[in-house]
Amino acid sequence: MEKLRIDTKPIEGQKPGTSGLRKKTREFMQPHFLENFVQSIWNGIGGAEGKSFVVGGDGRYFIDRAVQVILRMAAASGAVRVIVGQGGILSTPAASNLIRKRATDGGIILSASHNPGGPDEDFGIKFNTPNGGPAAEDVTDRIFNATTTLSHYDIVETQDLDLSVLGVSQLGEMVVEIVDPVADYAALMEELFDFEAISALFASGFTMRFDAMHAVTGPYATDILEGRLGAPKGTVMNGTPLPDFGGGHPDPNPIWAKPLVDMVMRNDGPDFAAASDGDGDRNMILGRGVYVTPSDSLAVLAANAHVVPGYKGGLAGVARSMPTSGAVDRVAEALGIECFETPTGWKFFGNLLDAGRATLCGEESAGTGSDHVREKDGLWAVLLWLNILAVTGKPVKTLMAAHWQRFGRNYYARHDYEAVETDKANALMDGLRRQLGTLPGRHFDAGTVSTADEFAYDDPIDGSRSEGQGIRILFEGGHRIVFRLSGTGTVGATVRVYLEFVENDPAKLERSAEDAVLPMITSVEAIAQLSTIIGRTSPDVST
Ligand code: G1P
Ligand code: ZN
Repeated sequence: MEKLRIDTKPIEGQKPGTSGLRKKTREFMQPHFLENFVQSIWNGIGGAEGKSFVVGGDGRYFIDRAVQVILRMAAASGAVRVIVGQGGILSTPAASNLIRKRATDGGIILSASHNPGGPDEDFGIKFNTPNGGPAAEDVTDRIFNATTTLSHYDIVETQDLDLSVLGVSQLGEMVVEIVDPVADYAALMEELFDFEAISALFASGFTMRFDAMHAVTGPYATDILEGRLGAPKGTVMNGTPLPDFGGGHPDPNPIWAKPLVDMVMRNDGPDFAAASDGDGDRNMILGRGVYVTPSDSLAVLAANAHVVPGYKGGLAGVARSMPTSGAVDRVAEALGIECFETPTGWKFFGNLLDAGRATLCGEESAGTGSDHVREKDGLWAVLLWLNILAVTGKPVKTLMAAHWQRFGRNYYARHDYEAVETDKANALMDGLRRQLGTLPGRHFDAGTVSTADEFAYDDPIDGSRSEGQGIRILFEGGHRIVFRLSGTGTVGATVRVYLEFVENDPAKLERSAEDAVLPMITSVEAIAQLSTIIGRTSPDVST
C-alpha cells in the first residue's frame, strides 16, 4: 500500500465552530477540500500518530466517500485504530458514547445536524475530544490555525473498505473496526432506564409514534423501541436513513414534523409521540392533544428523573441555556439543587457535566441531555419520558397539567427573523443596549421592567468569561423578553426574540401559548421598535 504526500496550500476562511465546519456539500466535494480539512484536524491536535478515533455520521449524502478518505488519511498519519459505525452510520450521541467507552483520542462526526442533506444541501465535519464532547474553542482555534499553514496532506492509496461488514480489518498498519452503530448505545440506555417497565407499558396497549425523519435515529429507534421494548411494528415512522432525508428538513419541531403533530392532536391519535433530528441529538415530545415545549420538557424531566434507575440518587444540579424558559429553575428550587444559566450552545454544559455539578441540561431549541454522554441526546430524552410515563401511569396531558399546578406555567414562544441585513440587526441590538439603563421601572403591556441587562457568563469551573450573550429584559412576575442574534445562520443575520410569560393562577394554566405571550409581543415593539428597525412585521418562524 503506497503512502502519498500530496502538496497543498492553506485553505481560506474555514473556521470550525463547536458544531464543526458546516458548508454546502459541493464545497466539501471539491478536490482536496475534505482532505485539507482532515489534515488540519490532525495537525491541530498534535498529529494522529499512535492515536485511536471513532468515525461516523448521520447517513447524509457524501458520508460514505468522506469516511473512506478519513480512514486512508488516518492510516497514512500513523493512527493505530479507527472505530467506524457500520455503513458509516453513528448518531452524534452514540459517537460521544463510543469515544468515552472505548477511551479513544476523540472522534470525527460527519453531519450538518438538522440541515437538509444532498449534493445541493449541507454537509459538516466535527471533531470531538476524548471526553466525548465537541472540541472546545482552544482546539477549534488550533485546527483553524492549521488550515492557514497547511502545506501537504498524507493519504494511502488503496481500495475502498467495505463498510457494511462488521469486524476488524487492517488498513496498512492501522486497525479498522466496524461496529454495530446501535449496540453500545442501546446497552447504555438499558443501564439507565427500566426497560421492563417500559415494555410493560407497551404491552398494556400504550401507543406511540416516533418520527425518525429519514435520518440517523431510524435504526436506533427501531432496535430499541420495536426490538428491545416490544412496541408494535410501525411505531417508528420514516425509519430508513436516506442521503437526502427524503427531501425534508430533519428538524423535530412543529413546522418540519407537522404530520406527526397533526396526528397526535387528533382524539384518536397515539398516546405519545416524538421525533429527532438528522444526527439524533435533538428531540420533540408530544402527548395526545399536547405539545411539550423543550423548556417544559426539561422541567418535567428534572422533576421526575428520580423515578428512573439511572437517576435514582437524584440530580446534582441542572443547567439551561439563558433563553430557555425558567420552568426548570422552579423545579431546582423545590428540589434544593443548583441551577445554572449558561450562554446558548451545548459546549457551555461540558464543564458542569465533567465536574459533576449538573446532571441534566437543556436548551429551548429541542436539546436535552445528561451526564451519560457529552452531547445532547434525542432518543435518551424520549426513553426518559417513556420511563416516567411507565412509572407514573399518567397520560402526558395529565402529567403536564399536574406539573403546571405545582410549579406554575412558563408560556413560551420564540420568534425568528431570518436573513435580516446585518447592519439592521446590529442596529436593533445597539438600540437595545443603549436603553438598558433606562428600562427598569417602566411599564409595558407585559408589566413593569424589573431588570434589563446584556447576559455575560462566568464559567464556575474554569473561570472563563463569555460576554455579549443576549439581551434580557425581566418583568415583575418573572415574565421575560430575550433578544439574541443567532450564531448559526448562514444568510445575513437571524434575530431571535424569546417570549416568556409566567402564569401562577391555577385557573389560567390551559390557555394557548400564542394568547399568553401577546403582551410580550406588543412590549417587544414598544421597547425595540423591531418592525421599524429591521423592516419586518412578523417573524419568519415561530416555535
Ligand atoms: C442554535 C440554537 C442553540 C443550539 C445551536 C446548535 O443556535 O439556538 O440552542 O445550541 O443552534 O444546535 P443559534 O442559531 O441560536 O445561535
Ligand atoms: Zn443535531
